[in-house]
Amino acid sequence: MEAKDKVFIFDTTLRDGEQSPGATLNIQEKLEVAKQLAKLGVDIIEAGFPFSSPGDFEAVRLIGKEVEGPIICGLARAKKEDIEKAASALESAKKRRIHTFIATSDIHMEHKLKMSRDKVLKMAVEMVSYAKSFTDDIEFSPEDAGRSDPKFLFEILQAVIEAGATTVNIPDTVGYTVPSEFGNLIKLIKENVPNINQAIISVHCHNDLGLAVANSLSSIVNGARQIECTINGIGERAGNCSLEEIVMILKTRPTLGLYTGIDTTQIYRTSRLVSTLTNMLVQPNKAIVGANAFAHESGIHQDGFLKFKKTYEIMNPEDIGLLTSKLPLGPRSGRHALNERLTELGYHLTEEQLDKAFTRFKEIADKKKQVVDRDLESVVRDEQRMQETTTHYELENLQIACGTGLPTASVCLRRTSDNAFLKDAALGTGPVDAIYTAINKIVQVPNELIEFSVQSVTEGIDALAEITIRIREKNGAVYSGHAANTDITMACAKAYLNALNKLISEVGIQIKLYPQHGGLEAKRGV
Ligand code: KIV
Ligand code: ZN
Repeated sequence: MEAKDKVFIFDTTLRDGEQSPGATLNIQEKLEVAKQLAKLGVDIIEAGFPFSSPGDFEAVRLIGKEVEGPIICGLARAKKEDIEKAASALESAKKRRIHTFIATSDIHMEHKLKMSRDKVLKMAVEMVSYAKSFTDDIEFSPEDAGRSDPKFLFEILQAVIEAGATTVNIPDTVGYTVPSEFGNLIKLIKENVPNINQAIISVHCHNDLGLAVANSLSSIVNGARQIECTINGIGERAGNCSLEEIVMILKTRPTLGLYTGIDTTQIYRTSRLVSTLTNMLVQPNKAIVGANAFAHESGIHQDGFLKFKKTYEIMNPEDIGLLTSKLPLGPRSGRHALNERLTELGYHLTEEQLDKAFTRFKEIADKKKQVVDRDLESVVRDEQRMQETTTHYELENLQIACGTGLPTASVCLRRTSDNAFLKDAALGTGPVDAIYTAINKIVQVPNELIEFSVQSVTEGIDALAEITIRIREKNGAVYSGHAANTDITMACAKAYLNALNKLISEVGIQIKLYPQHGGLEAKRGV
């Protein structure tokens, strides 16, 4: 295929994706995701919005310095101070892009910006020229383009391209358009913006009506050549166009005549990494990367599939890097075998990490007898998560009594600051409520549990349970916690502590001795 048929993949998992409630990543996690995105072969990584917070600034700076291959991009409103911050964060990136935006729909200009069309157009042009003084690679987005007056859109696009924009991105910010309409908008832009050939047309579709991928597809059929998307489709509200879906559409349907530079065998690994680090579960029936995406359940399907794979399978699981199962490890497998399998799965552990993973593996193998790849991934990720979070409290002991009587939990936590063992017990409406109430009595950090989900890593009664929770602290910030264990109550307690440890680290809770039971009093602090 020719160069003109290449669709550039602009990944915004670390910017729009990270705007999903509770999906916050720390700087090291962002770097890990960015390195994996580079392996995946994305063309552009939108690494953050440097003006929005010191953490975002630092993440963009670090990714620009350390990640090679893709263009690294920073988002900026059409404001001098935003553009200067983005430029400064991108200073050491070999290939850098500034992405500046301003809203162009009447509803946004009137109610949000309180600016006239002329003012918006003037600012857009001035800020694109200003950004151009820092780098040649400038992207401009007319926010809410999907609901903007097309005539004004043509005018502003022509003006920003004259001012130096090399990519013009058309966002369907609120996910309102439908494929025929959005594709037609791209066609009209091609026909009505005289200098459009001097820029690449990009699209950025949100998924509020479940049409982000369909709208993106319709736009490239009509001439767009960059798609903004995220891993697992995460993002603001219902999310963005899912990278894995759009990429696999182009691979599976070559008659569309378009291609990407993505190494699809890295898709599954990238999806798991993002899901684990953001604590955002992938729904089992999610296209491409969901647990059921390649599972054949009905007898007729299984029969057909076994006779000839292509009867029911349009893609090979290997195409997305899903290893077809090797022999599972068991209680007698050694450290070496574990290390080999983890290396095959793409995990390169230090000696110390391997020791910990091996201890966990043995515990599981004793209970489960057969440990498959998904169990191993779950355990390794669990360990990595523990290491990435500063541990203020660790679960030492947990006893549960439940049944027809009153569910009761007795908990012992180790406070790491002084190695004190703190105990308490509580009744609850159920075992989870009892565990969380007992932990709260010890830790005493006000928060609200806003999400609790249980997933089984594999089939079978002995499967590892993965618990994902989200808690909200009183100022509104959301923290996620995750843990995996063959004992579901242990996983519940550990997931809660994982979230509490993050909350305590982040809001600077000051820990004091709590007089009643030698426990704690925690105050928002300093
Ligand atoms: O959805 C949107 O409009 C955006 C822009 C900043 C591109 O995220
Ligand atoms: Zn967006």
